[in-house]
Amino acid sequence: CGIVGYVGARSVVDVVIDGLRRLEYRGYDSAGVALVFNPDGADSYLEVDKKAGKLANLEAVLAEQDRSLEAACGIGHTRWATHGVPSDRNAHPHLSADGRVAIIHNGIIENFGQLRAELEATGVEFLSDTDTEVAAHLLGREYAVDGDLTEAMTRVCTRLEGAFTLLAVAADDPDTVVGARRNSPLVVGLGEGEYFLASDVAAFIAYTTEAIELGQDQIVTISRADGITVRGFDGEPSEGKPFSVDWDIAAAEKGGYDTFMAKEIHEQPQAVADTLRGRIDEAGQIVLDEVRMSDQDFRDIDKVFIVACGTSYHAGLVTKYAIEHWTRIPCEVELASEFRYRDPVLDRSTLVVVISQSGETMDTLMALRHAKDQKARVLAISNTVGSTIPRESDAVLYTRAGIEVAVASTKAFLTQLAACYLVGLHLAQVRGIKYADEVSAILDELVAAPGKIAKVIEHLEPVREMARNSAGKDRVLFIGRHVGYPVALEGALKLKELAYLHAEGFAAGELKHGPISLIEEGTPVVAIVPSPRGRSLLHDKIISNIQEVKARGAKVIAICEEGDAITASHADFVIETPATPTLLAPLLTTVPLQEFAIELATAMGRDIDQPRNLAKSVTVE
Ligand code: G6P
Repeated sequence: CGIVGYVGARSVVDVVIDGLRRLEYRGYDSAGVALVFNPDGADSYLEVDKKAGKLANLEAVLAEQDRSLEAACGIGHTRWATHGVPSDRNAHPHLSADGRVAIIHNGIIENFGQLRAELEATGVEFLSDTDTEVAAHLLGREYAVDGDLTEAMTRVCTRLEGAFTLLAVAADDPDTVVGARRNSPLVVGLGEGEYFLASDVAAFIAYTTEAIELGQDQIVTISRADGITVRGFDGEPSEGKPFSVDWDIAAAEKGGYDTFMAKEIHEQPQAVADTLRGRIDEAGQIVLDEVRMSDQDFRDIDKVFIVACGTSYHAGLVTKYAIEHWTRIPCEVELASEFRYRDPVLDRSTLVVVISQSGETMDTLMALRHAKDQKARVLAISNTVGSTIPRESDAVLYTRAGIEVAVASTKAFLTQLAACYLVGLHLAQVRGIKYADEVSAILDELVAAPGKIAKVIEHLEPVREMARNSAGKDRVLFIGRHVGYPVALEGALKLKELAYLHAEGFAAGELKHGPISLIEEGTPVVAIVPSPRGRSLLHDKIISNIQEVKARGAKVIAICEEGDAITASHADFVIETPATPTLLAPLLTTVPLQEFAIELATAMGRDIDQPRNLAKSVTVE
C-alpha cells in the first residue's frame, strides 16, 4: 500500500493526492484521505473521503467538494487489498468509534481476530472487514484517555502483532500526524517548516530531497510547531538516520511516452551504465557500496544462496550460472517465500545474496532475517537507498535504475543483472580466480553492454509486429537453455503480468517431457537462442527444440545473435541481438521480451503501468 502524511503550509490535499499518485504503483484498488480542518483556530474537525478503484475515483469525489477551505494536516492511502475485498467500506482511512481519530495502515495485523473479538465484546461495531479497523478503535480508545495522539499510538503499538506502518490524525489536533513503523516501510521528508511521512521517498521528492529513515519499532510525530520527534515503542526518545535522495523527479514523470513502462524500457542503457559507473577501481577490482565484511569473510564462503521474489528472482537465476562458473562456489537460488520455511542449511560461511528493487519486500526481508539468525552473511542488491533490506545486510551494492514506476519491472531487472555480475566478479576477485583472463574480458564486455542494449532498443519494430500477431492467442510459450531459461521465465512473467495471458517459460530440453502437449497449430513459441559461435553445443540443442515445436504446429519467434543463419532458417521470425558472451546475453535478450509483452497487452487493451491485482512493492508475506 502507499501511505502519505503531511503538515505544512502547502495545500494539504494537493500534497497528499500528488504523493498518492506517485505511490500508486504500490497498490491501486482503492484510495482515501483524512484531512483535519481548523478554520478559525478554534474548533477543528476531521473529514474522511475514500473510494474503491483507482485514485482518479477519489479525486472525483474530492472535486465535488468545496475546496476553498485548506486543511491543516492530512493523511492518504492507496490500497492493495489483504483483508477484505476492494470496496468503499474497506478503503482506508478507518475511523475510531467516536469518529475522533482516523488511521491508515500498510501491512498485516496478525492478531486482529483476537483484538476484534475483544473490542466487539465491549460493544464496538465494525464497519469493515479489514484488520486495520481494530487499530482505529484501539487508538480512539487510548486517545480518549489523555488526548495525546503520540502517547495513544505508543500504547496501541504494543498490542499489535505482525507488520505495520500506521499513520493517524485526530479531529482536535490539527497540527499533528503520528506514524508508527514495524517491519513495513516509512520515511520522513524534511522541508522548510513542512514535514512528510510516506512509504517511500517518491511521494515527496517533488518538494524535498532531505529525508530520515526510521528504524524498527519507532513512532514519529510531525508537527509545524514542534518539528519531528522520534521515539521507540517503549516510549524512549530515539532518532532516525538522515539521508539525501538523489533520484531525479523527472524519473517520476512519463516524459512524452505513453506509459512509464515504455519510458523505463528506453532508460535501460543509461540505467545499466549508471549501475556500472565507478564500480571498477584503478586496479581493476570491483568495489561494493557498503561492506561490513572483511576480505577474509568473503574468502571463507563455501556456499551461496540467492534469495528474491518475482522478477528479482529471475535475476538471481541468471546469476547462479555466473557465480558458479567464475568462482566454483556452489550456488542455489530460491524464492524468498519458500526459503525461510524449509530450514535451509546455513552457517557463517554461507553468503546469502538478497535481490530486491524496493528493498522492502516482506518475503525477502524475512528470508534475510532468517539467514542472519542462522549466522549467514547477507549481501543485498537493491535499488532503494534508505530501505530496510540493505540496512540490515552485511554488504550492499545499489543498482542505479532511478525510480521505477511501472509495476512490471524492466530497468530494475537489467540493472540487477549488471549488479549481480559485479558481485560474482567481486567474489571471484577476492578469492583469487582460476579464470583471470576471462574475468577481465568479461569486465570489458560488461562496460560495452549499455551500447548494445541501446542497439536492441533501436530495432524493436519487428517485435511489436509479432506481438500484435500474437494477440488473441490463448497462450504463449517461451523456451531457453542455460541463462536463456531464466530469460524465458522473465518473458513469460512479463506477459502474464501485463496481458493476463497464460504464458509459461520452459527449459527447452524439458519441453519433450510434458509441456510439449500444450503446442497446437499456431501456438506462439518464443525461443531464446544462445550464440552459435564456436559451434556451441547449446545452440545445436535449441535448434533441435525449435524443430520439435515447429513439427507440432508452433509459430517460432527466435531471439538470436545477429548473423545466426541457422536459426533464421528454422524460425518463423527472428529478432537479432548484438554478439556478447553467453553469460551476459540476458542483458540483451530480455529487452525484446519486454517490448513483446507491452505491445501484446496494449493490443488487448490492458492497463500497462498498473495491471490488475498487482502492486509493485509487496510489504506483506
Ligand atoms: C512485486 C512486483 C514484482 C517484483 C517483486 C519483487 O511482486 O510486482 O514486479 O519483481 O515484487 O520486488 P522487489 O522490490 O523485492 O524486487
